[in-house]
Amino acid sequence: MKPIGHTILRLEETPSTNTLLLDNPRHLENHGLVAIAAHQTAGRGRMERKWVSIPGKHLQFSLVIHPTLPSEEVPVYSLLSALAVARAIEEHTNVAPSLKWPNDVLVNGRKVCGILLEGRSVRGDGHSGGHRLVIGIGINCNGSPGDFPPDVRGILTTLAHASGAPVDMEALFQGVLANFQALHGQLDGESRSELIDQWTRRALLEGQRVRFNSPEGVREGTPLGLTAEGYLIVETDGGERYVQISGDLEW
Ligand code: BTN
Repeated sequence: MKPIGHTILRLEETPSTNTLLLDNPRHLENHGLVAIAAHQTAGRGRMERKWVSIPGKHLQFSLVIHPTLPSEEVPVYSLLSALAVARAIEEHTNVAPSLKWPNDVLVNGRKVCGILLEGRSVRGDGHSGGHRLVIGIGINCNGSPGDFPPDVRGILTTLAHASGAPVDMEALFQGVLANFQALHGQLDGESRSELIDQWTRRALLEGQRVRFNSPEGVREGTPLGLTAEGYLIVETDGGERYVQISGDLEW
């Protein structure tokens, strides 16, 4: 398999780097291809939300991945992506980020990075068919929280604001790709548990509450940790344990 970032498409402006890759079958066939834009005019977030990024101050890029895992294990790419971002931030700034399941990266309780995974199934013979994953990563690097629209200003921050120093965006971008490549080699077999451990060491779990949909209706509980697959275990006040597979929950 070619390494992550073997080809990097650099764009001044595009509606969304995720959409760019998802809409181009040739790009989707190229595992490891990365598209990065200085500005997105229609950046997309999870749960149909908008993703706002400030031109020239934030990083926004997407990767094409051909998962080698069975489809039920593909959500582990959320953890891998967040961990790759967290490790790159640790290497290139003086801040220590925390991780919120499945894939938010926070500093001082505020979000500095959002990650959007989108999949496509491709028809073909045994070799050419299968799943394609586009992983979009937005990192709030420079500038201050005051740059954001008022409705999200209170929940977001930037690395420069948190660290008190400007961020070298190209070095951070290359750092995320290098960490992604290293962690990608840890997805199979025993090294997966090392990846889950590294994620859990940075996790924001203690003192948190989670509201989620269970087969019996909406439930609330305390997050306990992750399963070996990377799913979230939540315990209700009544002591029932649930395993959350989808990130569709409220913290
Ligand atoms: C979230 O809601 O937390 C996910 C935000 C993901 C934003 C990134 S920026 C690069 C890529 N292109 C998009 O349109 N979205 C993702």
